[in-house]
Amino acid sequence: MRAGHQGTGPGTITPDGCAVELYSRLPVGADPDIVAAAVPAGAHILELGCGVGRVTHPLLERGFTVTAVDESPEMLDRVRGARTVCAPIEDLDLGESFDVVMLTSFLVHSADVGLRRALLRTCVRHLAAGGCVLIQREGADWHTNVPRERADPSGLTVRIASAEPVGDGVNSVYAEYVFPDATWTQTFLSRPLTDEQFDAALAEEGLTAQAYLTDDRTWVRAGLAA
Ligand SMILES: C[S@@+](CC[C@H](N)C(=O)[O-])C[C@H]1O[C@@H](n2cnc3c(N)ncnc32)[C@H](O)[C@@H]1O
Repeated sequence: MRAGHQGTGPGTITPDGCAVELYSRLPVGADPDIVAAAVPAGAHILELGCGVGRVTHPLLERGFTVTAVDESPEMLDRVRGARTVCAPIEDLDLGESFDVVMLTSFLVHSADVGLRRALLRTCVRHLAAGGCVLIQREGADWHTNVPRERADPSGLTVRIASAEPVGDGVNSVYAEYVFPDATWTQTFLSRPLTDEQFDAALAEEGLTAQAYLTDDRTWVRAGLAA
């Protein structure tokens, strides 16, 4: 397991505490439409941390080509129709460039600043000229508005039970995912980033935010700084 991360519930748990069975069940929501509206039609997308393909599959259905990367072979086993690569994102060097690189699922909030920098460097290393990086950030109040919960029509309740400081600006977050027949939990470390800190993190790796794609500013399109 990655330090500070753990998960409970049926099935395989990945090093960052995610459950393969949970991600196979979670509804996908608006994410594929947000991506599709922000990038050129038919683009080749490098998706970093793809999981079971929850977002990958709708992107393929929308006509994109996707290279899907994850460090969990059990997650990748469930991806269909995309080229898959099993690797830690921070070490990835495919020797190829892509129109779009996606660093989603709040990976930019890595507690380890060195790891965050390596994740962003991977994005830059794989970016084609004129391409863009799509980054998914946490919402501004996600660490202070706790506990909170959201009920999904699918029967799922997502509860963010706590976000406790563990030092150096990092919080340990505890989340529960409750279905009528099964419950999963995940504990993970996250470093909240103000807009200024987020911009500085991008700038460290030569990136700049070009557009916020959602009103809550959680989806960002970034590109190489001029
Ligand atoms: C929260 S899940 C989200 C999966 C997918 N993006 C989705 O929205 O359904 C995060 C995924 O990223 C993968 N992951 C996390 N950190 C990683 C790293 N440093 N390198 C490779 N994969 C990583 C995990 O194995 C897991 O499958």
